[in-house]
Amino acid sequence: MKTELIRNILSLKAENQPVELSGWVRTKRDSKNLVFLQVNDGSCFSSIQLTFDREKGISPETEDTLKKITTGTSVVAKGILTVSPGKGQAVEVLTENIKILGEAPAETYPLQKKNHTFEFLRENAHLRARTNTFGAVARIRSQMAYALHTFFQEQGFQYVHTPIITTSDAEGAGEMFQVTTLDLKALAEKAVSAGNKGMQPEKAASLIDYSKDFFGKPANLTVSGQLEAETYATALSRVYTFGPTFRAENSNTTRHLAEFWMCEPEMAFYDLKDNMDTAEAFVKHLLNWALTKCREDMEFFDQRIQKGLIETLTNVVNSEFIRITYTDAVKELEKHNGNFEFKAYWGCDLQSEHERYLTEQIFKKPVIVTDYPKEIKAFYMKLNEDGKTVRAMDVLVPGLGEIIGGSQREESYDKLLSRITELGLKPEDYWWYLDLRKFGSVPHSGFGLGFERLLLYVTGMSNIRDVIPYPRAPKLADF
Ligand code: 4AD
Ligand code: MG
Repeated sequence: MKTELIRNILSLKAENQPVELSGWVRTKRDSKNLVFLQVNDGSCFSSIQLTFDREKGISPETEDTLKKITTGTSVVAKGILTVSPGKGQAVEVLTENIKILGEAPAETYPLQKKNHTFEFLRENAHLRARTNTFGAVARIRSQMAYALHTFFQEQGFQYVHTPIITTSDAEGAGEMFQVTTLDLKALAEKAVSAGNKGMQPEKAASLIDYSKDFFGKPANLTVSGQLEAETYATALSRVYTFGPTFRAENSNTTRHLAEFWMCEPEMAFYDLKDNMDTAEAFVKHLLNWALTKCREDMEFFDQRIQKGLIETLTNVVNSEFIRITYTDAVKELEKHNGNFEFKAYWGCDLQSEHERYLTEQIFKKPVIVTDYPKEIKAFYMKLNEDGKTVRAMDVLVPGLGEIIGGSQREESYDKLLSRITELGLKPEDYWWYLDLRKFGSVPHSGFGLGFERLLLYVTGMSNIRDVIPYPRAPKLADF
């Protein structure tokens, strides 16, 4: 049954050798004596051309098979690989034998036209990987995952699997999906029969007995693997996690997902500068990988999705990122406040319009902003001497804004404890995290790269729902 991948056949020198392949028919063209099929198996961007020549004789069975073939039909074929006399392809297969594996009736198969809208394809997410765009996105996604492992593994980082279900809130922002086996319907009925009219919320909440829940306490899907990664970094020195993370933030934008993948390296004995150097080298490694190892797919994105993409990314690989403190960035932005819906001022959270202005108008390249006010950043970031800012770093890129968020971590037990209490979080929820500061505490740093944001940047695609196979967002969990 197993046949050769089309990418491997296309890389051969055509010497009239026999080949056998399988795939899905993209197009059929019948012109007098010749029939051409373009067959794609997703192993690379290109389809292969199968040629049938009536002058050389086509058997009645084959004629019959060809009649039944429509766009989307799956086939297995045998033939001779030859140099193609036609335009548009270097080689073709003079086909001797073709079999239909599965038909795709033209009246019902959704992928008929060549240029379906991305909205239409989102509704057909189970079939969209068979199109040029989504096939290319899927291959780049796979390559970027491979590239990120390579980057860290080659530098002595260990890959750590942090949990998906947790009982802590890694960002302290409360945007979590609860995981429970409690019977919510039964609880609601109990509340009603207890006479819920005028019932105090505390009383209603007390009807929920978490000791009866699966984990014996409230649990949730992780928003980040960082805290657990820190426990391993303070044992193995350099580690990284890469896995799905979940946020129940109600952001219906082209940059947010409720389920997204994040790569989080965490390094003991690294300060903020070491952290920035790693993040910059990491992004460049990933871009360079796409540019050099995924050439065919990148050329498609360059021509069809974002003109000039290859040149832009090549320039990014070859130039240095800007590094600027939040305070200086705000000073720059204030000069242009006339252009913003939200005026910039010291203390404001940088809006997407500010991030884009910095990267697209002022610096025209990636920018690392550091030392944000503590009020707008998470509890675990190391406090600066000024007592007002923290050793945070966000990597911002043109066209997109934030792609990486990270920081040096607070390694002092007392300072971390007071940040946790200050923010109204419960120290007992973080007892093990605080322990790291009690026993052999070390300066350490890390960051998180949003994998789908990276993919938007690399491919030039504009909606984050198009760079993950099955997007999850508010009111969106079809398939
Ligand atoms: O800036 P964030 O929230 O940082 C953290 O989670 C830290 N624990 C990371 C660390 O230091 N180890 O998220 C990191 C990155 C963002 O820069 C962004 O690229 C991406 O994750 N991100 C999202 N991507 C898609 N949809 C969302 N809802 C996202 N929220 C964050
Ligand atoms: Mg962030």
